[in-house]
Amino acid sequence: MVPVKAVPLVLIGIALAASAPAAAQPKAPAIAQTCSACHGLKGVSTTKDSPSLAGQPDVFTQYQLVFMRDGQRQPGVMAGIVKTLTDQNIRDLGAYYAALPPPPPFAKAEPVDADKANAVMGPRRCGNCHKEDFSGQGETGRLAGQRPDYLIKSLKDFRSGVRRGRGMGAMMEVSVTLEDADIVLIAHYLAAKP
Ligand code: HEC
Ligand code: HEC
Repeated sequence: MVPVKAVPLVLIGIALAASAPAAAQPKAPAIAQTCSACHGLKGVSTTKDSPSLAGQPDVFTQYQLVFMRDGQRQPGVMAGIVKTLTDQNIRDLGAYYAALPPPPPFAKAEPVDADKANAVMGPRRCGNCHKEDFSGQGETGRLAGQRPDYLIKSLKDFRSGVRRGRGMGAMMEVSVTLEDADIVLIAHYLAAKP
C-alpha cells in the first residue's frame, strides 16, 4: 500500500532537515557576547553605524580586527575592547562570523534606480573585487545586506583617507571621485541586495 511505503521516506526527510541547521550553527567564542551588544546577536546589527559581521569572509574580519588593534584603522567605540583581543580570539572570531548566515536584505533601504547605481559602480569595477553578488572574498568585505548608514560612513572614510585599507589603497582610488549623492545611492543599492 502506498502510505506504508511513503513513511520511511518522510522520516528520512525530517532527519536530514533537522541535522542540517545544527551542523551549520557555529559555536560562539565566549568573547562574542560582548560584541553582540553593538553587532547584534548572530552578527546582524540593529544599531546605526555598527556593521553586520555575519557572513563576512574570515580573512576580512581578521584583518580589520588587527588593523583596529594596531591603529592602522581608527577603532572608534571599539578602542577599549579591541586592545584586549589576542591573536587566537581574532582567529576564532573570524571563523565564527564567516560561518553565520549573512544578513537579510536591509529592510529600510531606500528604493534606488539600479541602472543609476550600476552606472556609478560599473566603471569602478566594484564587483571584480567584492564579487558580482557582493558577497566578498578573502580580504575584501561583503557588502550585500550591509547597513546603509555604515556603508556611507566607510565610503566617506576611504574617500577622505581616514581609512586606507588593504589592496594597495584600492578603495581610496575608487572612492576619491565619488560624489556624496553617489555614495548614498550605492549604499542603499547594496543594502537591499540579498
Ligand atoms: C560599543 C559598540 C561596539 C562593540 C562592543 C564592538 N564593536 Fe565592532 N564596531 C563598532 C562600530 C561602530 C564599528 C564601525 C567602525 C567604523 O565606522 O569604522 C565596528 C567595526 C567592527 C569591525 C569592522 C567591520 C567592517 O565591516 O569593516 C569588526 C570586524 C568588528 N567591529 C568586530 C567586533 C568584535 C569582534 C567585537 C567584540 C570583541 C566588537 N566589534 C565589539 C561597534 C562595536
Ligand atoms: C581592486 C579591488 C577593489 C575594488 C575595485 C573595490 N573594492 Fe571595495 N574593498 C576592497 C578591499 C580590499 C577592501 C577592504 C579594505 C580594508 O582593508 O579596509 C574593501 C572595502 C570596501 C568597503 C568597506 C567594507 C566594510 O565592511 O568595512 C566598502 C563599503 C567597499 N569596499 C565598497 C566598494 C565599492 C562601492 C566599490 C566600487 C565603487 C569598491 N568597493 C571597489 C577592494 C576593492
